[in-house]
Amino acid sequence: MRNIIIAIDGYSSTGKSTIAKQLADKLSYIYVDTGAMYRSVALYALQNGCVEDETINEEKLISDLDCIQINFKYNPQLGFAEVYLNGENVESKIRTLEVSKYVSPVATISEVRRKLVEQQQAMGEDKGIVMDGRDIGTVVFPDAELKIFMTASAETRAERRYKELKDRGDDITYEAVLENVVTRDHIDTTREDSPLVKADNAIEIDNSNLTIEEQLLKILKLAENLI
Ligand code: C5P
Repeated sequence: MRNIIIAIDGYSSTGKSTIAKQLADKLSYIYVDTGAMYRSVALYALQNGCVEDETINEEKLISDLDCIQINFKYNPQLGFAEVYLNGENVESKIRTLEVSKYVSPVATISEVRRKLVEQQQAMGEDKGIVMDGRDIGTVVFPDAELKIFMTASAETRAERRYKELKDRGDDITYEAVLENVVTRDHIDTTREDSPLVKADNAIEIDNSNLTIEEQLLKILKLAENLI
């Protein structure tokens, strides 16, 4: 059995991390949620005066980049690695609508991307990894053995994210979540540096009408043929 790299890219709230986590679990692979890394930088920006009048102060954020340490630590109770920002577990803090609002503008900054991509490539050096994000199959691991591109309608995705946030007890509306999903997709697909696009050799899965089990089975089959 050989170790491979599985890259899962796609639009916001397509359920990439749910599938990636379970896939990694089944294959005993490492799972890395790269969105959590960009979200952690956005959280840092919000907490450290890098946002003024709802706008990112790019110069300040770039000059602070060396002070931003992002790590993952496996939580055996949850069965996946949680994200830490400068030593603090921020897994829950990075999932708010406030962070979601600033994360895509933060992710357009090339210096931010360079730092995170370098760290992501180091994490995948030994392969045996499932990584999800927007540019994994195109930029981070262009030679990944298996590339998946997940899609679903904006409404389906917003409904899923709305339910997730409501279940956590967040005070939000469906309309605000839908607007965030649509805005993030727009920024992510039109930015200059590493825009979200389907890699030529990625396999597209529209999961609007697929259960988690069906998606998992489909991707597992593809992976098992390569391992
Ligand atoms: O995956 P998630 O929705 O948590 O990602 C949050 C945001 O981080 C995305 O909307 C995108 O702007 C950015 N991102 C990125 N590249 C990645 C992962 C996430 O630009 N590889």
